[in-house]
Amino acid sequence: MHYISQNFFWRDTVNLNQQLDLIRQSATVLLNDRIVAARAAGKRVIPLHVGDPDFPTPPSVLEAAFRALRAGLTHYGPSRGDPELRQAAALKLSRDNGLDYDPQSEILVTHGGIHAYYLALQTLLNPGDDVLIPDPTWATHVNMALMLRANVIRVPAPVENGFLPTFEDWERALTPRSRVIVINYPSNPTGMYPSRAYMQTLQDFAAAHKLWVVSDEVYENLYYEEKPISAAALNGAKERTLLVHSLSKTYAMTGWRVGYLAAPARVIDQAIKVSQNSITCVAPFIQKAAAFALTDPDVQQAAAAMRIAYARRRDLVMCIASEIGSTKVIARPSPGAFYFFLDIRPLRISSLEFCERILEEAGVGVVPGSAFGRLGEGFVRMTIAASDAEVETGFRALLTWAEQQKTSGGSV
Ligand SMILES: Cc1ncc(COP(=O)(O)O)c(C=O)c1O
Repeated sequence: MHYISQNFFWRDTVNLNQQLDLIRQSATVLLNDRIVAARAAGKRVIPLHVGDPDFPTPPSVLEAAFRALRAGLTHYGPSRGDPELRQAAALKLSRDNGLDYDPQSEILVTHGGIHAYYLALQTLLNPGDDVLIPDPTWATHVNMALMLRANVIRVPAPVENGFLPTFEDWERALTPRSRVIVINYPSNPTGMYPSRAYMQTLQDFAAAHKLWVVSDEVYENLYYEEKPISAAALNGAKERTLLVHSLSKTYAMTGWRVGYLAAPARVIDQAIKVSQNSITCVAPFIQKAAAFALTDPDVQQAAAAMRIAYARRRDLVMCIASEIGSTKVIARPSPGAFYFFLDIRPLRISSLEFCERILEEAGVGVVPGSAFGRLGEGFVRMTIAASDAEVETGFRALLTWAEQQKTSGGSV
């Protein structure tokens, strides 16, 4: 009896971190749970909801990890990261982005892109600082800032503006407490990325208002039009820009959990403290495999082949869209990443209802646009990181299901 009342006391009167009440469980994760449950119950679901390449990691990268394991790299390593991987990251930034980073002082190895993003914000933000983040964007961009007790100011990036904020909107979002802007191009969920001229203007805006720029470039290798420019590659940009990089998407290495932060030395010197006191280091044998992936010419070929496959699937989606000529779902060609942000506004139902019903009634998994912000409402995110057959059957089923729906009178 005494025991029970003590439990009651702890459960009901001792507070948890109230900041976490501001964060809703990711709709992507919740939907994924439902899909896993549906599949476990024997239901067929076409997985067009996950942001995880359907390709295996190139086998030679696995071999590099095995070699490192056999060589005994099973102990702690330096918190800054294996010098070989930092050198490989610097080489990659020079080879692919024309950027000059010092591997000794300007690169920090991280536990994937998400951890690089965490380190970036933890290093820059004081509680109460304002962070400017476009709407829609990947929910973690917002949630991480909230966890760190920053104020998030969403900058509208509606479909009418090509999913990019106008400079009037960037200006309008400014307050005396603005410290950081977060960008992510190519974008999750829209696939959009801006021109060089836009990025230069954005960097000039950041310089004029003394803002840091955190640029999440994890989809940089997945583009189907002109190559996107790194936010650090503009005039005068490097000193105020923190680049979030990852091997997850480019090399189909999501489960390896490895990425890096590239930033001015004084930022890295502080970020190391956060990394050291949260993860100690990234597993050393994983780092050897990552160094191999970033530099081996055959692995670059394999990454290029994956990009070509995504480009083919993107064309496939556009072909099916024009063949069916849907009046309910509008597919705009996605310039980058492996997502389509499908416009379902003609249906006049919420994006969540769309996703729940299409999962239930047609067995297709897609993610509600509302998971990415208020301006994501009216859209659903569909991935092309699934096999050609899954993309084709899933997208056809989605359009067919949508065409059968009666448009409700209300607005979403
Ligand atoms: C925009 C964006 N940034 C970062 C990440 C995290 O990538 P990683 O697997 O490297 O942590 C994701 C994953 O989906 C993402 O969509």
